[in-house]
Amino acid sequence: MKINISSRDLSYDIVYEKGAIKRLSSFFDTDRKALILTDSGVPKAYACSAASCFKEAFIETIPQGEQSKCIDNYLLLLRRMLKENFTRHDCVVAVGGGVCGDLAAFAASCYMRGIAFYNIPTTVLSMVDSSIGGKTAVDFEGVKNVVGSFYQPSAVIIDIDVLKTLDRRQVNAGLAEAIKMAATNDAELFEFMEKCEDPDSNIEEIIKRANAIKKAVVEEDPQEKGLRKVLNFGHTVGHAIESAAEGKLLHGECVAIGMMLMCSEDVKKRLGNVLKKYSLPTECEYEVPALIDRMKHDKKANADGVSTVWVNGIGSFEFKNMTWSELSGLK
Ligand code: GLY
Repeated sequence: MKINISSRDLSYDIVYEKGAIKRLSSFFDTDRKALILTDSGVPKAYACSAASCFKEAFIETIPQGEQSKCIDNYLLLLRRMLKENFTRHDCVVAVGGGVCGDLAAFAASCYMRGIAFYNIPTTVLSMVDSSIGGKTAVDFEGVKNVVGSFYQPSAVIIDIDVLKTLDRRQVNAGLAEAIKMAATNDAELFEFMEKCEDPDSNIEEIIKRANAIKKAVVEEDPQEKGLRKVLNFGHTVGHAIESAAEGKLLHGECVAIGMMLMCSEDVKKRLGNVLKKYSLPTECEYEVPALIDRMKHDKKANADGVSTVWVNGIGSFEFKNMTWSELSGLK
């Protein structure tokens, strides 16, 4: 099964197929060179399976974790492509989570002004959210995603068989992004996740329903000029927590805490229950005022404050410009 993401000058498929990582030539042209980026937390077999589909492939493995989403690793990828004489006909492939996807896509977007990029997400988080929509980035000087571009993948291959090796904490952190999509856009999906007794056997359905929301949002607003900002629900404070926590908390865990601060009391009750159900945190050791300086790097910030997403009722949202002092008062 596949769905197509299309907007003004972009169109690509998201393919859902178990075992697809071993059969990439069924989905796109593999008669070329590929630079495959993976990380040390992803079983080697996945990158090797992807590599075996290409005429010639080179695997780069970076250490697992957000600290790898850096300029040095971006340069590593560019150097490797240059060394192996990559041309515009060749491609970059990410086999990993959001770090690999964002970094590989950024390198693909710059090499020879852009070569094809294929994303094979191996985490729930990247399947649900980051692999779709063309955001690429590296972190710089301690600021998350501050250097990057919009560059669409040529295809996204979702093979849920690769989730069998993903640890529980990572699965739950990915589900936080699905909860985010549901809380803002789909009350039925939220209810489904509230009632779901076994998320593992329903993971494909949750991913597909979250992807349907993301598709609608990025097709309408590919470059985050308006509607797409809704996908930042929980991220304003969440990103600041993530940078303060220096690797101790996963992205989805920080988003979970961030969402709890940006909703009405009624929503907080339901959201808190569903987050706890998936063993996600609902609060953290940092007080909001201590995070304000970090929030000032948010791409939606100006001198007075930041544009945030607020949820008053499940399945709906509003954009709210909040001043730094209003944000400091959040509890
Ligand atoms: N992850 C948020 C977005 O793609 O806009």
